Amino acid sequence: MKPSLLVARAIFPEVLQKLEQVFDVTSNQTDETWSKAQLTNKLQGKVGTLTTGTDRIDAEVLAACPQLKICANMAVGYNNFDIAAMTAAGVLATNTPDVLTETTADFGFTLMMATARRMTESEHYLRAGQWTKWSYDMFAGSDIHGATLGILGMGRIGQGIAKRGAHGFGMNVIYHNRSRLDAASEDACKARYVSKEELLKTADHLVLVLPYSASSHHAIGAAELALMKPTATLVNIARGGIVDDAALAAALRDRRISAAGLDVFEGEPAIHPDLLTVPNVVLTPHIASASVPTRLAMANLAADNLIAFFTHGKALTPLNAA
Ligand code: GLV
Repeated sequence: MKPSLLVARAIFPEVLQKLEQVFDVTSNQTDETWSKAQLTNKLQGKVGTLTTGTDRIDAEVLAACPQLKICANMAVGYNNFDIAAMTAAGVLATNTPDVLTETTADFGFTLMMATARRMTESEHYLRAGQWTKWSYDMFAGSDIHGATLGILGMGRIGQGIAKRGAHGFGMNVIYHNRSRLDAASEDACKARYVSKEELLKTADHLVLVLPYSASSHHAIGAAELALMKPTATLVNIARGGIVDDAALAAALRDRRISAAGLDVFEGEPAIHPDLLTVPNVVLTPHIASASVPTRLAMANLAADNLIAFFTHGKALTPLNAA
């Protein structure tokens, strides 16, 4: 008998077919949004599940699903998993590192450029039929080349953004991270380690790429925004909750910083209403890893983790030692 698997969200049909060769699959190909109670209910009797960042696996879910052995997240971030609870319950957690690094770094850079050069604000103006003449300062933004790029969270994706800035655009790169990179990695990114305070005060463009946890909750709030230059931009491609969205909307409205680019939001897909009314923000719906080849690679890696675990007893990219 094949092991029972729940695929909690819609995925590529070819990946589903691959899973069906090994598992008895129940899948959510209609992509309904399940509540935690519905997810718990669907997980009954399942030994494995393929989840996305919106599916919460915590002690309550685990207690109600004693057969569960592995949860394979189709995301590099895994703040939807309570890893301590999973380890205690003997449930393996996996994520999808590496396969999305370059695509996500591309997007972080894109969002930074769109923010600095006021791309969406100017497009909305044009679409609204407001463009009637050339003006010397129309949608004049800030430069990327030669500017100081600040990165908070210097993991794989942060380093990818740093390399793009340093080597492609002649940016002066500074970063802050829980731990400092080794000298070779700093050299490869041409990046200089600074305190968080110096990062906030010095960056012309600040990009957030740190993981979400209790300790990074509101890492950027009113006090941090007050340290930034009034000409600076802020980009968040990490997770909602790292930025205090209400404080950011107020800072954007009062022009305490010049602009922001946000791919992630507190409580997404709900958006803080004030962010929808300020013009100087570029908003995208959590799509940083969304190129077709990368999303396919992520789905395949999540599936391969499940297959490897059930066929050889060992996952490819485990997060815990359950
Ligand atoms: C996307 O946000 C991911 O963590 O992969």
